[in-house]
Amino acid sequence: MFSLELRDGARLGPLEVHHAEEFAAHLDRAREHIRPWVGAAFVTDDVDGARATLRRYAERRAADGARLYGIWRAGVLVGGVMFTAFDADAGSCEVGCWLEPAAEGHGLVTGACRALLEWAFTTRGLHRAEWHCRADNDRSAAAAKRLGMTLEGVRREAWPYDGVRHDAQLWAVLATEWRDRDR
Ligand SMILES: CC(C)(COP(=O)(O)OP(=O)(O)OC[C@H]1O[C@@H](n2cnc3c(N)ncnc32)[C@H](O)[C@@H]1OP(=O)(O)O)[C@@H](O)C(=O)NCCC(=O)NCCS
Repeated sequence: MFSLELRDGARLGPLEVHHAEEFAAHLDRAREHIRPWVGAAFVTDDVDGARATLRRYAERRAADGARLYGIWRAGVLVGGVMFTAFDADAGSCEVGCWLEPAAEGHGLVTGACRALLEWAFTTRGLHRAEWHCRADNDRSAAAAKRLGMTLEGVRREAWPYDGVRHDAQLWAVLATEWRDRDR
């Protein structure tokens, strides 16, 4: 399948229904690390759950909506990035990401998200890309900042997890800012 080269020989490619077993094995390595920070529906427990996530994204992709991409390093699925939301008519999207612990700290998500943003703004002509994270998710906020996003505000107590409602940050970058980022 087609894939895009990232740093350190890692590759970014579509994460599809036929990857269900690989995705489930990856989630076994990532589950407890990502659970506090990502949507509950994403953290499944077995191959059927992993397949259901992949099918949900495939259906939404067929409708030109959300899309899911995996990051493989040395042939092993170590994380991924996604358009959590993608609305061409409204000109806006939301980008998300996750990694298993061993893959953190190498710039893989930053590189992968750059590829998604470039496609959204340049190929698809979108105007605005958002990034939502828990306000205490420092690594996620750092990634948003690295991507040139601006912290637009805090959605107070918008993120329920484990019986506590956490504040959530909203970051975003506009197409004009994306085009001007290196000037
Ligand atoms: C959020 C998450 C994906 C960020 O992972 P990350 O490894 O910090 O992000 P990147 O892959 O972009 O790597 C950046 C790190 O690589 C380093 N790096 C090395 N080379 C780099 C390069 N060329 N470009 C960018 N960063 C580079 C950076 O310095 C940074 O390390 P540091 O934080 O120790 O300074 C990860 O912490 C995670 O999966 N968390 C749990 C799930 C989660 O929170 N998902 C997001 C929900 S909103």
